[in-house]
Amino acid sequence: MLRPASRATGYAAQEPRISVWLTRLVTHIAPAERAALARAAWNGTVDMNVDSLLGRALAQRVVLELSGLRPTQVRFAIGQNGKPHAVSRATGENAPCFSITHAGRWIGVAVASQGRVGVDLEPVAPFAPTVSARVFAESDRKAVGQLPECEQDRAFTKLWTVAEACAKVDGNGLPAMLRAPPPIGLSATGKRAAHYWAVGVLSCGVVVAVAADRVQDPARSLAQARVVDLGWILKERR
Ligand SMILES: CC(C)(COP(=O)(O)OP(=O)(O)OC[C@H]1O[C@@H](n2cnc3c(N)ncnc32)[C@H](O)[C@@H]1OP(=O)(O)O)[C@@H](O)C(=O)NCCC(=O)NCCS
Repeated sequence: MLRPASRATGYAAQEPRISVWLTRLVTHIAPAERAALARAAWNGTVDMNVDSLLGRALAQRVVLELSGLRPTQVRFAIGQNGKPHAVSRATGENAPCFSITHAGRWIGVAVASQGRVGVDLEPVAPFAPTVSARVFAESDRKAVGQLPECEQDRAFTKLWTVAEACAKVDGNGLPAMLRAPPPIGLSATGKRAAHYWAVGVLSCGVVVAVAADRVQDPARSLAQARVVDLGWILKERR
């Protein structure tokens, strides 16, 4: 059972907000950089996929940056159903909640100052009717069906991305998402069950969504998403 983010850190004491950070998967990563990435990610395994390494290294960097904690003060771990989290070694309390996603050569991390958060990135892709019937509410499918055909793939991808971001807030993952999903709707921001969400499209066409249980205006967080490079992620923080 996760405990709320520690109020001891400056970030957690702020008004509820989310920070969204993005980076591009670099095409060439030299062995030395890959080893540095593994050290920067919390498990130190060089053999892991580069996108996982980069996502975990970015998450660690951002959580430390925002919380003011030092690497030795925080333990990063994978919890129930694969949800990652960070815990203060001193108090055992959770550091700010974060979420990781990687798709279409982009990596995304979202960190919540209070409560829980989920983030998801997806390239626009077609959805077979049998799949959409399983994963989307009927009213959402009807709404997408009324759009011009050339807009439907993007609309379905947005719905999927929002649903995944919401699923990551609770950490229940895809299985929970497939059970009688409440509608999402076609707007850029909304509330689904206990989750506030926002969705947008990056300039490269990749869809990005963020969802949270305490932060009520995630659209502002998406609009202010920060793009960083490998150098920033690997910058040593003591
Ligand atoms: C979480 C999940 C939706 C990821 O979706 P995806 O679009 O394929 O992948 P993304 O790139 O967006 O996200 C992957 C990241 O999500 C995070 N993640 C994994 N499981 C998670 C969970 N349950 N909750 C929140 N985040 C999770 C991880 O950080 C992972 O990246 P990493 O392993 O490289 O660090 C999917 O893996 C899932 O449903 N997992 C849960 C499985 C489950 O519930 N099993 C129970 C038995 S059925």
